[in-house]
Amino acid sequence: AAPPRPLAAKKHDEPDPDDGRPRVTVFFGTQTGTAEGFAKSLVEEARARYDKAVFKVVDLDDYAAEDEEYEEKFKKENIALFFLATYGDGEPTDNAARFYKWFSEGNERGEWLNNLRFAVFGLGNRQYEHFNKVGKVVDQLLAEQGGKRLVPVGLGDDDQCIEDDFNAWKELLWPELDKLLREQDDSSAAPTPYTAAIPEYRVVFVKPEDATYINKSFSLSNGHAVYDIQHPCKANVAVRRELHTPASDRSCIHLEFDIAGTGLTYETGDHVGVYAENCIETVEEAEKLLGYSPDTLFSIYADQEDGTPLCGGSLPPPFPSPCTVRTALTRYADLLSSPKKSALLALAAHASDPKEAERLRHLASSAGKKEYSQWIVTSQRSLLEVMSEFPSTKPPLGVFFAAVSPRLQPRYYSISSSPRMAPTRIHVTCALVYGPTPTGRIHKGICSTWMKNATPLEESQECSWAPIFVRQSNFKLPADPMVPIVMIGPGTGLAPFRGFLQERLALKESGVEVGRAILFFGCRNRKMDFIYEDELNNFVDTGALSELIVAFSREGPTKEYVQHKMAQKAPELWNIISQGGYLYVCGDAEGMARDVHRTLHTIVQEQGSLDNSKTESYVKNMQMEGRYLRDVW
Ligand code: 2AM
Repeated sequence: AAPPRPLAAKKHDEPDPDDGRPRVTVFFGTQTGTAEGFAKSLVEEARARYDKAVFKVVDLDDYAAEDEEYEEKFKKENIALFFLATYGDGEPTDNAARFYKWFSEGNERGEWLNNLRFAVFGLGNRQYEHFNKVGKVVDQLLAEQGGKRLVPVGLGDDDQCIEDDFNAWKELLWPELDKLLREQDDSSAAPTPYTAAIPEYRVVFVKPEDATYINKSFSLSNGHAVYDIQHPCKANVAVRRELHTPASDRSCIHLEFDIAGTGLTYETGDHVGVYAENCIETVEEAEKLLGYSPDTLFSIYADQEDGTPLCGGSLPPPFPSPCTVRTALTRYADLLSSPKKSALLALAAHASDPKEAERLRHLASSAGKKEYSQWIVTSQRSLLEVMSEFPSTKPPLGVFFAAVSPRLQPRYYSISSSPRMAPTRIHVTCALVYGPTPTGRIHKGICSTWMKNATPLEESQECSWAPIFVRQSNFKLPADPMVPIVMIGPGTGLAPFRGFLQERLALKESGVEVGRAILFFGCRNRKMDFIYEDELNNFVDTGALSELIVAFSREGPTKEYVQHKMAQKAPELWNIISQGGYLYVCGDAEGMARDVHRTLHTIVQEQGSLDNSKTESYVKNMQMEGRYLRDVW
């Protein structure tokens, strides 16, 4: 179930008019804001093209408070555009989850959308198995339920340049919208060429003595009724320790957030979203490139002084201010991702050297597509690296935060504790992201670096803290604790299973009988990265875990992975599966989860003596029944 949200609907861009003007509703399902940004920019452009039509941008969650309301409202829609992101294991974004569930379970409704014309643009990443699943499914269902498709579903690929995919899809869409919206538009003039203005917040510099409140500490008071991505909870770091031994050349951190007295709660298997901060070296570099002193104080607004929204209301609400340049860059700016093409155009507009401006514009153009792909995407050039190659670009702060640097997004981790064992703590198990990029830069993952450097309360009263929130998941133990389970989680994929095992241990200690549980864990070497070894052994000793099977990939002459260990245990695994047991996989999606999936397929096929297609439907069925669950990234 999606986390509860406040039901008060957001104000839509325009009131619903009943004046016969054509109406277009643009829905978005967004996690990090890209889908929302596309929806808003499309609408801004569309408003310039079709001045008689009325456009609305709508968050899918805000559209309807109840499922019945979805049906009622959709019936009245004539033209609907959808921007839908897919994440994780083919899942919808949080704000589209309720709509997606309701819509995809509605096959019995028949062809009830005969009045609807629609187009869907999906946002996904080709590296993932379920590439753009949500966009494809909604597109298909809209057509099955009677809607008329305007253009084929757009498959945005974030692995390459998703802006290009969006622009290409838009070019297909305009002629179709022309047919619908120009017929009814009495001005028959050809569309005026549209150049997107560079978005900009209004920035007002503040003298320190005039700042009534300086946003040095986060303007965040706990006690909000519901904590969510927009309303995180301030949580101290209580414990931080390294899980690898000094013999390892990598790092994995065990971190505990203290949630005592905050009202924040979680369930075993949930995720925690963490807003981390950029490290000081990154921030200092950005300050230098932008040419601002760190103590410069400013206020930032998305509207004019008289309250008129800037950029047609398409700007996201700005961060809390007044604050210093240092605070803003530390907490809100994503400085290490590769810049989008729109960011290059914004930089170009503020480059004093015309040659630099020209080169930036070229990189953002269709002629420069290949160069952009190689020089920026494949090279993993960060925004700061790009800015340092174009030293004459000095975007003002309002442009920088609106158009150049995306907002720093929270990072999600599978919670590695159970509230039955740790009701006032949220445990995280986090591998440090650290390594050279093709340009020779050492990339340090923002959140994992922050965690590695965090000061825990154990060490100092001046401990580190972060805004956090909990995202519910469906990665849950079977309701009946006697149902046998198989858990597969190499590396930090172990995290949610540590929570599962804590839960089973707590159940056992309270006198509840638990069924068989097998854990497949994998690491490189017992002496380096066998994380939580003592705890896992203790789970076996206490009976919370029936069997622990570990694959060491770098001990012997050949690599041994969890899936090899699974194959050796095929008869027993089949026994558990065919008895209605649950299978859980957590960890790396591209390599491990894919290989484990293949191994599962082989086990079912061989042990069950099934042919290929029967095997496929067997495994699909396990997924449908919620007995084969994956928490992969
Ligand atoms: P490796 O680093 O030696 O290749 C946790 O990261 C463990 O998962 C490591 O032992 C790692 O081995 C292993 N691993 C890497 N790729 C994998 C894959 N495709 N399937 C299963 N395990 C994998």
